[in-house]
Amino acid sequence: MKAKDILELTIEGYGMEGEGVAHADGYTVFVPFAAEGEKVKAAVDRVKGKVVFAHIIKMISASPLRREPACPLFGKCGGCALRHLPYEKQIEIKKRNVLSLFHKNAGIDLADAPVFFSAEDGYRNKIALPFGVENGEAVLGMYKRGTHKVLPLSACPLHGMWVESLLSAVLSFVREKKISVYDEGSGKGLLRHLVARRLPFCGGYRYSVVVVGNGESLPFEKEFVARLSAVWEGETSVFFCRNVMKNNVILTPEIRRLGGEETLLTELCGGTWEVSPLSFLQVNFPVAERIYQDVVGTVSESDVVLDAYSGTGIMSALLAEKAKKVVGIEIIRAATENAARNAARFGVEEKVKHLCGEVERLLPEVVAEIDTYTLVVDPPRAGLDEKVVETILRYPPERIVYVSCSPATLTRDVARLGAAYRIEEVKLYDMFPQTPHIETAVRLKRQFR
Ligand SMILES: C[S@@+](CC[C@H](N)C(=O)[O-])C[C@H]1O[C@@H](n2cnc3c(N)ncnc32)[C@H](O)[C@@H]1O
Repeated sequence: MKAKDILELTIEGYGMEGEGVAHADGYTVFVPFAAEGEKVKAAVDRVKGKVVFAHIIKMISASPLRREPACPLFGKCGGCALRHLPYEKQIEIKKRNVLSLFHKNAGIDLADAPVFFSAEDGYRNKIALPFGVENGEAVLGMYKRGTHKVLPLSACPLHGMWVESLLSAVLSFVREKKISVYDEGSGKGLLRHLVARRLPFCGGYRYSVVVVGNGESLPFEKEFVARLSAVWEGETSVFFCRNVMKNNVILTPEIRRLGGEETLLTELCGGTWEVSPLSFLQVNFPVAERIYQDVVGTVSESDVVLDAYSGTGIMSALLAEKAKKVVGIEIIRAATENAARNAARFGVEEKVKHLCGEVERLLPEVVAEIDTYTLVVDPPRAGLDEKVVETILRYPPERIVYVSCSPATLTRDVARLGAAYRIEEVKLYDMFPQTPHIETAVRLKRQFR
């Protein structure tokens, strides 16, 4: 088997990235944007050991489930791997994948797991797009699947209309002012990324827009702020973020406000919260709201809760409304500052303490001081550092609520906790419809003293 070989395949199921999976000549073949039961002609892109990556060149017989994906970039951009399938099917695929990871990584066979559904489109409150160049003009877009080539984008159904107005305003400005675009190869040029949020507030929305540039400032910045402020009705905060590093990191702490408020205010779970552009925030609010409610539902009034990876502290504040005391741990300073003020805004500052630093460093110090506690962890995709698992096993909390956007690392970590904990509940939350990703929350109960 080699690149450019042509295969006739029957798609037998789905992979973890939502791709179709088939078998040929002893190889496992991954075919993006295919559906179970389909017969396709596919061209081989890459062979790695016994694994083959191929793309459809001809549909021989299509699945009756296949639907017209409502996006012109479907199949080209790396985002919506499941958009060609009905929503219920997407959920079924993701659930099956999560259950199979529990089996494979943790040796746990779950009969089922309830799923909280989302709106299929228009759910994302944040967009981050690279700048690129096409026909000599600045464009904004998505990276073509598996490459760093920018495919121009003028709209994205995951976000909704606000993104269209944003892109058209930003691009007309940078084209008119002939502002250069960063080139990864030469390291020259200014514009790298555009990062924007639209958050609900007082019946309308508030916006933040960050231009990330390989330089000290954005030319004509006052004009840029004026131009953006006229795009929407809601207040807009505008920032320039200096990033001269040669890596894939988008935002750096070198961020300067060009106009509007320093932090964005938003509403969720009956509270008002501030969020800095450098702070993490859940991208799908109705789903985040349900996760937070469910996590709060697991604690009792006598609990001391450690909220590790606490971000802007929204969940910490909600937990503190019910629990005895909450300690949040978060690495990003801006987020910890948001979190302290969010606790005060929610009226729970007496019960909440926020620490800024790595969970792996701070958790041992904090838990050594407490008798019994409940641990809430919501780590990034990498999951828990080994030191965090060691600390948990050394100072075992009564209960752990593990919220995760990566079922692979979640199930790995559940396995690492081993016999010390028993699963009480697994719930899935479809934070990212159309994509293969899903949020999972696991409630674990300590088995031994
Ligand atoms: C998935 S987010 C969860 C945030 C929060 N629970 C929420 O719902 O908004 C993960 C958070 O962990 C933070 N983080 C990443 N690595 C960390 C580390 N080693 N120690 C502490 N915080 C970390 C990130 O900055 C981010 O705010």
